[in-house]
Amino acid sequence: MSDHPAVVLALPPDLVGDLLPADLRARLDRTATWDPAVNLQAGPAPAALARAEVLLTGWGCPTIDAEFLAGAPRLRAVVHAAGSVKGHVTDAVYAAGILVSSAAEANARPVAEYTLAALVLAAKRAFGAARDLRNGHDGHRHAPGEATGLTGCVVGVVGASRVGRLVIAMLADYGVEVLVADPYADPAEFRAAPPGGGGAAGGGGATLVDLDTLCRRSDIVTVHAPSLPETHHLLDARRLDLLRDGAVVINTARGALIDTAALTRHCAAGRLDAVLDVTDPEPLPLDHPLLVLPNVLVTPHIAGVRGRELRLLGAYAVADIERYAAGLPLRGAVRHADLARMA
Ligand SMILES: NC(=O)c1ccc[n+]([C@@H]2O[C@H](COP(=O)([O-])OP(=O)(O)OC[C@H]3O[C@@H](n4cnc5c(N)ncnc54)[C@H](O)[C@@H]3O)[C@@H](O)[C@H]2O)c1
Repeated sequence: MSDHPAVVLALPPDLVGDLLPADLRARLDRTATWDPAVNLQAGPAPAALARAEVLLTGWGCPTIDAEFLAGAPRLRAVVHAAGSVKGHVTDAVYAAGILVSSAAEANARPVAEYTLAALVLAAKRAFGAARDLRNGHDGHRHAPGEATGLTGCVVGVVGASRVGRLVIAMLADYGVEVLVADPYADPAEFRAAPPGGGGAAGGGGATLVDLDTLCRRSDIVTVHAPSLPETHHLLDARRLDLLRDGAVVINTARGALIDTAALTRHCAAGRLDAVLDVTDPEPLPLDHPLLVLPNVLVTPHIAGVRGRELRLLGAYAVADIERYAAGLPLRGAVRHADLARMA
């Protein structure tokens, strides 16, 4: 680690201005030696790479394997101004003792905000009501006993991931009971369900339950686990059958976590509603029923940072480069041992 490390960019060229606006560039100027005109995603720069101590990466950056590292003998840290590092960081990076950091924590906030908005609107049945309105049906009148509104709901959070934890924290003031299912969660952190599968959460806490219990008890299930071989179809046909009539499924994680065909059947039958920012396949074919069902909202993978939010990734990455230069641990450090169960 040096006082003013040589930083080389490997950022998507069209987004550099959004990821690194002027104030963040100024911070980088003060902390590091870098050339804004050199960007490995815009063209090869072997001389700069040979001097690089820190690589500032983003979506679409080259794979950092043994061959890449042969041209970067001084590299000590890969700082990713985006979420998952699985697309570009190989075992060779860890074998060389190079530090890895990701801005997934920064990316998690907009996803959690999207989820909160989806929870509120889905609980109001707002999407179906808006389409009904366009068809001439005014749903303004109260219907006695209708099961709408977030207050009093049981919300099931699948995965105590960065996004899942933020959602749990945001729900603290919403008067809901929160259940969480995650085989890796520390029972000491969440209250465990009492024998019998119940469990009243209060004070903004979440109750740790198994996934089947979560499916049976939740009014709204929101999916935040990473896409891994073992989470493929985590919500399969059997578990979707466990959901109560009128339940809502929200997926901002990855499409493969849910059996799309089974979910489509339930939504087409009007038994379940869904808000899907991610799908399997993605995008869905234009004639897919999920795109036209009145009780389903599909958005095109927009929950993560976009537009003005891109600077959140840049700010997180620049802060970690500042920490690196100061000899401090990286906030977004990704340990090799944790990679297998991370997004
Ligand atoms: N829609 C978007 O634009 C968008 C943006 C960012 C992230 N995502 C997705 O959101 C999800 C969460 O991202 P993150 O960065 O918070 O994830 P993360 O890397 O923090 O998740 C890791 C955690 O997931 C939990 N987990 C692992 N296996 C599990 C299982 N079988 N069941 C339940 N929980 C399990 C563990 O607690 C683990 O520590 C991921 O699927 C990610 O791809 C989507």
